[in-house]
Amino acid sequence: MTQHVTRAAAEGWQRESIALGCDYNPEQWPESVWADDMALMREAGVSLVAINVFGWAQLEPRPGEFDFASLDRIMDLLHENGIRVNLGTGTASPPPWLTTRHPEILPMMVDGTIRWPGGRQAWCPSSPVFREAALTLLAAVADRYSEHPALALWHVSNELGCHNALCYCDVSAASFRRWLENRYATLERVNDAWGTVSWSQRYATWDEILPPRATISAGNPAQRLDFARFSSDELLDYYRAEAELLREKGSTPVTTNFMITAHIRTQDYWQWAADVDIVANDHYLDHRLEHPTSELAFAADLTRGVASGQPWMLMEQSTSAVSWQPHNIAKQPGEMTRNSLTHVARGADAVCFFQWRASVRGAEKFHSALLPHAGTDSKIWRETLELGRALSRLAEVAGSRVEASVALIFSWQSWWATESDSHPSSAVTYLGQVHAAYEALRSAGVTVDMVEPGARLDDYSLVVVPCLYLVSDADSAVLSGYVERGGTALVTFFSGLADETDRLRVDPTGCRPPGAFADLLGLWTEEAFPLKTTETLTLSDGRAASVWSETVRLTTASAITTFIDGPVAGSPAITRNSRGSGTAWYVATALDEASYFTLVSDVLADAGVPVSGLPRGVESTTRTNDTHRYTFVINHTMSDAALDAHGIELLTGERVHSTLSIPGGQVRVIKQERTSNDA
Ligand code: GLA
Repeated sequence: MTQHVTRAAAEGWQRESIALGCDYNPEQWPESVWADDMALMREAGVSLVAINVFGWAQLEPRPGEFDFASLDRIMDLLHENGIRVNLGTGTASPPPWLTTRHPEILPMMVDGTIRWPGGRQAWCPSSPVFREAALTLLAAVADRYSEHPALALWHVSNELGCHNALCYCDVSAASFRRWLENRYATLERVNDAWGTVSWSQRYATWDEILPPRATISAGNPAQRLDFARFSSDELLDYYRAEAELLREKGSTPVTTNFMITAHIRTQDYWQWAADVDIVANDHYLDHRLEHPTSELAFAADLTRGVASGQPWMLMEQSTSAVSWQPHNIAKQPGEMTRNSLTHVARGADAVCFFQWRASVRGAEKFHSALLPHAGTDSKIWRETLELGRALSRLAEVAGSRVEASVALIFSWQSWWATESDSHPSSAVTYLGQVHAAYEALRSAGVTVDMVEPGARLDDYSLVVVPCLYLVSDADSAVLSGYVERGGTALVTFFSGLADETDRLRVDPTGCRPPGAFADLLGLWTEEAFPLKTTETLTLSDGRAASVWSETVRLTTASAITTFIDGPVAGSPAITRNSRGSGTAWYVATALDEASYFTLVSDVLADAGVPVSGLPRGVESTTRTNDTHRYTFVINHTMSDAALDAHGIELLTGERVHSTLSIPGGQVRVIKQERTSNDA
């Protein structure tokens, strides 16, 4: 497990407040607009802006020829206006001169086709040519601005791996081989890890190994898994090269914007966390999901997990619609503030947006911004001002930590491995199962910490383990030890099945599915019976399920419910096992929402975790510091809600004596002094 250390969270960008910020692309506008921008930013309370993210072609119009005049003026102007800078290193996208001179840096897709310039991020993560050119630019940028008084934070590249995470070119192939040598030392071990005895895939020399390019049949899953790991490590290595150079030039904190979100899964951010001085995330509501707001809360909790519980930055979100989904849904009145404060409630100490002024040209001209095309007489601008006021009233919350007594084990590597080809059911998606577990917990009103496999669990009353398909012996022993010492775990189907090489945990001496967790759960599964998409099953207590069923054979566990219909009628569906001083629950199917909620409520009661009792759609989380507790109540419904509370409500300034009302669609934050009992 990686030890995460975020170094400079308290320095540079972070003040005694929750920053409001945005990407700012002044180069898209005549300079005559800049003064207006400054005045409006001040009016809104914008205190941190990201500039120069895609600056390369302006800063270095020809190889080795730099022009900083415009960036100098922007840096100075921002400084004069008291606005701090989150300075992009400018390397996110190569300029046309570089891709023209060096077309070998262009990324190659899985099918061998090249992605051409004309979009963004068209570079191979393993390319030494790209890296050298990018570091040349960066050295010039760092020399010029590392002592600039406006500089608060370095913003390395942009969303590393958003488009170019997986490159299959020959340069990547050579780098992949080096990575494999480092991981396995011998070719024999690679052959073993990848199970190359199947289908005549045995490698006799290193140079026979390629990236997992498109194949005519299903590919080798362990090769793909290692390529996913390699690709994440490769961009991390690239990030480190930029960060190292910046750290040689000064002490300003360095970060990059992660994409902890539902639609991008290319980076294992547990591996990245130790290398950023502050964890920063970009999050956009994804309207392709069933519960976009739940996913927002999930992503915020996961970002806090990656930050080891420390405050983090929301580096980008949108004020309203984005421009890259099939249907770009605009936000309802109040939604932007509510969503922003949901991030704060879950640990964000900065709320930033893409972008300041809505573009009129380029691929993002229909993307919303703080200052929309409609100008200041608009819902969006009024809400920008409202958000600025809200954040200033919440200033004292900065630096506080979120309380949680339930943990959920999250693994990017299990995500990659779960969704391999040739699995029992394409309806078993990692995030589908993780989100379902999270939504049940959220509906029950509990706050969840996301932890990586192998993390210390002893401070949690309940640990939820959804779809942890791939798990190491060491990480599974941590979970078993936690339960043996008195903890409660809830494990879901398709967990524990494979080791780190994607080898199924089955051996002739008796290890049977669910492999790593069979002893912990007190059962084994005889055969999986995935369901057709339209099939739903009923359990003996009336709960409903779909997607999956399996024949469960109990060893020490007891059945709580059984399947009463479907292919395994009579087999246990939910089980409970006493193990040491603790308890391990198992659910052998995908419950529907209402059923999952009741199961989670039962398990929470078993684990002694109090639930909020708030109506569905009303979330509550608490942040604490040494002296105070700040309870955020976010009413995503259109009906008024109420809660027993006393203290000062920070957004309205009212003193609450017994009942806090939260009008439909609004947020309230109650501040209370901590008592000695809180510790
Ligand atoms: C990402 C990028 C931004 C912008 C936004 C639009 O987050 O980092 O440059 O493209 O998406 O949603």
